[in-house]
Amino acid sequence: MSGVEQTRQFLDQGNVPKHVAIIMDGNGRWAQRRGLPRTAGHRQGVETVREAVRTASDLGIEYLTLYSFSSENWNRPETEITELFSLLRYFVRRDLAELHENNVRIKVIGERAGVPDDILSLLDEAQALTRYNDSQTLVIAFNYGSRTEITNAARTLAQRVSEGEISPSQINEELLASYLNTSDIPDPDLLIRTSGELRVSNFLLWQIAYSEFVFVDCLWPDFTRSDFYAAIEEYNRRTRKFGGLVRETGS
Ligand code: IPE
Ligand code: IPE
Ligand code: MG
Repeated sequence: MSGVEQTRQFLDQGNVPKHVAIIMDGNGRWAQRRGLPRTAGHRQGVETVREAVRTASDLGIEYLTLYSFSSENWNRPETEITELFSLLRYFVRRDLAELHENNVRIKVIGERAGVPDDILSLLDEAQALTRYNDSQTLVIAFNYGSRTEITNAARTLAQRVSEGEISPSQINEELLASYLNTSDIPDPDLLIRTSGELRVSNFLLWQIAYSEFVFVDCLWPDFTRSDFYAAIEEYNRRTRKFGGLVRETGS
């Protein structure tokens, strides 16, 4: 069955979440199990990214957020960091035209400090080129850490209070959220993490307050279109209550 046929069949069966966020984990283990250097896993991981973006777009998922480099990933050996940066360059250079053609808007979240200038330019170019696209938003979390994001928002609010622009009583959830990197993006409905690790690793801590979590055992380079569907099927089996009660049908 082709990817598109598979998608049509799948779409007949359930709801598609509006925003899916993915912690793409397990590249290193994928490589190590094959006796390859960790970087080989990252390279294979980029191919999975490409397929996941296509799947999300075929399904009509409006927002797809991919965790590609965390603020804690600076703790890795320099050679691995260099390779991860090179792969980001490779992905953007290779896939930008196709993403733009498919009307995908690219949005990057994370800190700029510490990121090489040429990568910043490349990411700026990708965002500028695709800014008016409206079929899907691909959010790339690069050099991203949620605690830093929330701390920055708190600092900005404190600054505004100290300058007399707002009073502390005006600070509410909505105002704080408007200072996060994700201010123009709805909260994720579904958070997927591959590789069997059961943690969130400083990813979108504020935004995932009511997301459904699906942890899958397969390593990111092995994550297929079918695994993506299975995660959404699992999401469809969940009952989201947001602290309320589920309404009986017909009542
Ligand atoms: C995810 O794979 C990619 C990044 C964190 C950049 P890992 O590199 O974390 O792979 P494992 O967890 O060591 O297997
Ligand atoms: C999370 O994976 C970060 C990304 C996927 C970019 P890690 O592999 O860095 O997370 P930990 O260290 O296992 O928590
Ligand atoms: Mg990992």
